[in-house]
Amino acid sequence: MRIRVIGAGAVGTVLATHLVRAGHAVRLSIREADLPSMQSVRHLRVDRVTGGPPLTVDKPPLSTGMDLHDVDAAFICVKHPDLRSVLDGLGPTIPSGCALIPCQNGVGAAQRIRQRFPASDPVAATVMFNAQTLQPLHARVTTEPTLLLRSGDPDLLSLFNGSGLRVRRVRGEGAAWGKLLLNLANAICALTHSSFHDVVSNDDLKTCFTSALDEAVRVLQAAKAPYRLPASMPYPAFRLLLDRAPSLALRASAFHRTASSHAYPSMVADMVQGRPTEIDQLNGEIVRLGELSGIDTPVNSQLVAMIRMREGRQPAEFLAPAELRQSLAAAG
Ligand SMILES: NC(=O)c1ccc[n+]([C@@H]2O[C@H](COP(=O)([O-])OP(=O)(O)OC[C@H]3O[C@@H](n4cnc5c(N)ncnc54)[C@H](OP(=O)(O)O)[C@@H]3O)[C@@H](O)[C@H]2O)c1
Repeated sequence: MRIRVIGAGAVGTVLATHLVRAGHAVRLSIREADLPSMQSVRHLRVDRVTGGPPLTVDKPPLSTGMDLHDVDAAFICVKHPDLRSVLDGLGPTIPSGCALIPCQNGVGAAQRIRQRFPASDPVAATVMFNAQTLQPLHARVTTEPTLLLRSGDPDLLSLFNGSGLRVRRVRGEGAAWGKLLLNLANAICALTHSSFHDVVSNDDLKTCFTSALDEAVRVLQAAKAPYRLPASMPYPAFRLLLDRAPSLALRASAFHRTASSHAYPSMVADMVQGRPTEIDQLNGEIVRLGELSGIDTPVNSQLVAMIRMREGRQPAEFLAPAELRQSLAAAG
């Protein structure tokens, strides 16, 4: 199939590498500023901490445009703050026959696309792996790469066949909300410069995480929003695992497959580099849904406020875990 991958960061590089490996005609849309550094690279490369040699494929053609004519599927792999500029760049309409597949964390990207292009029917994707960019067009994944697609289209569901990336079909928003629950840890990592491993192994950080989680689950239940944790276990069982066997909880939550190396959410890098974060689409979604459902969300509101206050500050300032715990306890 003819595929466009828009955004060649961590997720875009991983998806493009697997799509090329699966034999598709891929084009990568990148920023003009990235042309010099990416043009000189000959291959796409994905390192896997789960074992096995790196995946390397020939670099597909790069372009700074986003023309979707003659494209069967377009994966949108930019962060939420850049989604608007991408939608602006797609032109007035989406050609019929082109499936738009937003890969952003959270639950709102497909809705934003539908508002912008009412005739389109975006296929929401939930990215179930953790990836970091090491070099231009060179990424590292710390989990087995899996993608959840809200589609029954057999062509889309089989796009990655033979590539090593698993695709599963999901119905409804349950899986996206479940992933969002785990991504509530991102703000905690970003405020304290911590890894996912730190969040489950440090008592102060774990208390912050479980307070944010418990609050979010109360909101989802009140709003009757179904959620399904990546660990495919009921929330009380996951909470017990977090308390009693945190490294198992980490493995079960699709953050990580190996206990030895530590993965950071990209919100940590956003803070270090003074970039806008996706806080509104993560903890902010819980706050919004809480307002609609009449449930107070002091913990997640405080996390949103603390991230917003620090976004863009250079050099970035981080809190000690105990300071964050105190601050959330005072808010709650
Ligand atoms: N990384 C993960 O482990 C992971 C896991 C699950 C979900 N996600 C979600 O996936 C999305 C992408 O995350 P990521 O980690 O891949 O981010 P990323 O590494 O920052 O990659 C995004 C890339 O898109 C580029 N870009 C932005 N606007 C563009 C435009 N108009 N045209 C062309 N390229 C553009 C960015 O360039 P600049 O750097 O110059 O802005 C960057 O190279 C996020 O919503 C994130 O929540 C990520």
